[in-house]
Amino acid sequence: MPKIVTGFSKLTKAEKIEWLISRYFHNDSSFKTVLESYWNHDQKLQELHDEFIENTITNFYLPFAVAPNFLINQRFYTIPMVIEESSVVAAAGNAAKFWSKRGGFRAEVISTTKNGQIHFNYNGNKETLISFFEKAKPRLLASVEEFSDNMRKRGGGIKDISLVDKTDALENYYHLHCTFETADAMGANFINSCLEQIAKAFKEVSQSADGLSGIEIVMSILSNYVPECLVRAEAGCTLDELSFDAFNGKDFAQKFVRAVAIAKAETRRAVTHNKGIMNGIDAVILATGNDFRAVEAGVHAYAARNGYYSSLTDAKIEGDVFTFSIEIPLALGTVGGMTSLHPLVKMALAILEKPNAKELMQIIAVAGLAQNFAAIKSLITTGIQQGHMKMHLLNILNQMNATGDEKKAATDYFKKHKITHSGAIEFIENMRK
Ligand code: MEV
Repeated sequence: MPKIVTGFSKLTKAEKIEWLISRYFHNDSSFKTVLESYWNHDQKLQELHDEFIENTITNFYLPFAVAPNFLINQRFYTIPMVIEESSVVAAAGNAAKFWSKRGGFRAEVISTTKNGQIHFNYNGNKETLISFFEKAKPRLLASVEEFSDNMRKRGGGIKDISLVDKTDALENYYHLHCTFETADAMGANFINSCLEQIAKAFKEVSQSADGLSGIEIVMSILSNYVPECLVRAEAGCTLDELSFDAFNGKDFAQKFVRAVAIAKAETRRAVTHNKGIMNGIDAVILATGNDFRAVEAGVHAYAARNGYYSSLTDAKIEGDVFTFSIEIPLALGTVGGMTSLHPLVKMALAILEKPNAKELMQIIAVAGLAQNFAAIKSLITTGIQQGHMKMHLLNILNQMNATGDEKKAATDYFKKHKITHSGAIEFIENMRK
């Protein structure tokens, strides 16, 4: 068994690569050539990327694409997307174009409050704790003054602190639930600094309070569940306007509503349905330097808020009007973090014409809704594979190292023939015979 490696982070980049080559690549230096081929020739830019995280050995590329024609609240956007899945950007572009001819998307931010908790143990009298907390609350709120200057200038800061009794769920477990506004920042650092400061003040005042002992702070951390940081987006039109190609608008709308109802009723479908929504959301989250893990965790918890996991989107027909909507929690930032560091993130935000956090919430909710529309539209008409395989064909050809001529011949041929993985391989093999 290999020995544990110590002091790895202190090695130089070259030494780290040497270590990897000797341990995993039988000292084959072609591994180093591959890693180096992804380094940026601009030394400063490479250093910037090296310093984002620890132990960086190279850069990992993902495609950065744009989907134009998104009409949101009567304004056109071109949406930047970072994603590896072949058909996502094409689907976004198609849905954007489809809805731009039918009045576009409407979006509104419902609320922007974020939250965090100080989790603690307490095994004393509950009433004593409640009256102590009420008296201590102004001091706890004041304890974060020193961190809040900048945030207050931008319209943010702590909103409130409440005591929550969770002893029904876990013996002796309480928390302080703290709410915040963080303006255009995602606010994770601000919230966590405030929580740690409040925890310290809480511990201090509790030690000098009469009849109150044994408060033990377990941890203080923001929550990525942000159901009070909510955005809604929708698109709609008359059933007539919904007709396209050979499809009748009314039939299409009814089947569409049914497909969404299935995703509401059946978790197995809901997960895939929501995964498709996140194809659009994550791609814009990544492009704009936001935290897709936080958003993913929060969105899925929201999808299960009624006690079972269900669809994030809704569809209905009222009279002769079809409406399709999404409501999701999104804690985003357009300042701070990656937004002011990564050159491509800055570019993505510039393409979106420098949105504030609320505008970005609206844009990203629409990206999710559009993606879901495109997926369901394919699923209930042609089936998903037609569009997917069309986009995936180039991946198969690239896996076979197809030349330019081979790619052209294959794409021409498969315009008229059903694309399958084996069919594409066979086509190229026949060409090479
Ligand atoms: C694939 O990445 C996403 C879909 O499966 C979403 C869906 O089924 O709704 C097509």
